[in-house]
Amino acid sequence: MTFASQSNRNKGSECQIRSTNLKGPAKSCTLCPRLVAFRQRNENLYPDFFNGAVPAFGSDNPWLLIVGLAPGLKGANRTGRPFTGDYAGELLYPTLLKAGLAKGTYKASPDDGVELLGCRITNAVRCVPPENKPTPAEQTICRNFLVDEIAALPKLKAILSLGQISHNAVLSTLGVRKASFPFKHGALHQLPNGLTLADSYHCSRYNVNTRRLTTAMFEAVMAQVKSLAA
Ligand code: URA
Repeated sequence: MTFASQSNRNKGSECQIRSTNLKGPAKSCTLCPRLVAFRQRNENLYPDFFNGAVPAFGSDNPWLLIVGLAPGLKGANRTGRPFTGDYAGELLYPTLLKAGLAKGTYKASPDDGVELLGCRITNAVRCVPPENKPTPAEQTICRNFLVDEIAALPKLKAILSLGQISHNAVLSTLGVRKASFPFKHGALHQLPNGLTLADSYHCSRYNVNTRRLTTAMFEAVMAQVKSLAA
């Protein structure tokens, strides 16, 4: 289902009318009332933060799409660039640089000049959710932007999902049965539409601190994904 058709069911919000494109939601998207209320609270508490739907970052015609969960309050929601300033970015960006999927020096700022090479980073949910936990309804609403984004990437070969929520969002986006492709760290799923879906545990502070995900494990996934470019 395209976002345009879904939007007919959600009248009353400006950011609904979209064709298949890479724009993503408006910064001030109003589709999810709880996330809008959280944004308003954050605008009062942190007026210097970005405080909006965080746009995707990277190539506009990538072969690889990396899908995270949602912006962190004091990371991507502050800086306006996915994973930038978040703990998770401290592992993601250096791993991309090491794999040759990015160039520059990551300095946790959108002005650091980092350039992604052949890849793009987006999120399953574009606005920061309270306690980093988007509700199922918010995931469903925001998925329409992922539908449009994937449809607008003609060279796309692979998607790297960071965590199970991202994995499920991608499968739902592509209309693929979740039971046929269970989430598994390190798995490469060959999807019916020809795309490869790679799974990794999310590079979150919790997963890194508990050593569920080590740097070596994450680098191994990224190297495997990089080999799909050939
Ligand atoms: N974690 C994510 O999943 N996405 C971000 O943009 C930041 C942190």
